[in-house]
Amino acid sequence: MKKKAYHLALEESDLQGARIALIPGDPWRCDTLASVFRVRKELAFHREFRSFWVQDKGEPALVVSSGIGGSSLSIAVEELAQLGIRFFLRLGTCGGIQEHIFPGDLIVSEGAVRMDGASLHYAPLAYPACADWEMVKLLREVCLKLGYLFHTGITCSSATFYPGQERYDTYSGYVIRALQGSLEEWKRLGVLNYEMEVATLFTMCRVLGLQAGAVCGVLVNRNSSEEVDPSLVEEVELKLALVGKEVVSLLSTL
Ligand code: URA
Repeated sequence: MKKKAYHLALEESDLQGARIALIPGDPWRCDTLASVFRVRKELAFHREFRSFWVQDKGEPALVVSSGIGGSSLSIAVEELAQLGIRFFLRLGTCGGIQEHIFPGDLIVSEGAVRMDGASLHYAPLAYPACADWEMVKLLREVCLKLGYLFHTGITCSSATFYPGQERYDTYSGYVIRALQGSLEEWKRLGVLNYEMEVATLFTMCRVLGLQAGAVCGVLVNRNSSEEVDPSLVEEVELKLALVGKEVVSLLSTL
């Protein structure tokens, strides 16, 4: 790709050897993720897609925000792949749905329930949304090394934050019948958490032959509260940043 990627406003030469992209949803979280690297340079900020080039001891990386949801993430992944990125690591936030998962914990996703919508444009629903197993192994090793409490398992990616995650604290207070009881059902089926992008990332990367992983910080346990504690966001972001930095430093082992 010689010209600038349409949405990301990046070109091939911006990669400067980077093979991996660290992907938060929030463009403002890019700052925190980039801040833990010794060298960082902001590349572009177009719509919801903000990008930095970063490097520490090992190889360089990009930090690129995906925006919220699978549709937006699919644009970022598509354009990054065209530019030459081959490894994708989502560093996001989520709501825990199992009783033993607490705010501040991390979740390493092995796979995802495909309620995201966007992944249907890449593969039929029967196709599984699986992480790259080497990435899962590496993420587990990194979380252990950093001493972070983490859980590994299945994530539910929803196209919506409110009804798809069975939230009733909404304007109408109504959730359609098809989704009533869905939180309890996913919980019974052992799903760990809700978020909005992992299923799209995993499905796309599998079908395109790219390697993907995801780790999300828990902001709320949905069994006890709907309120996100803002002081927790900073703590979780720093954990995600240090996980991302460590993964980049170990990328050559994949
Ligand atoms: N992101 C989500 O999609 N859900 C949550 O509960 C928290 C963050």
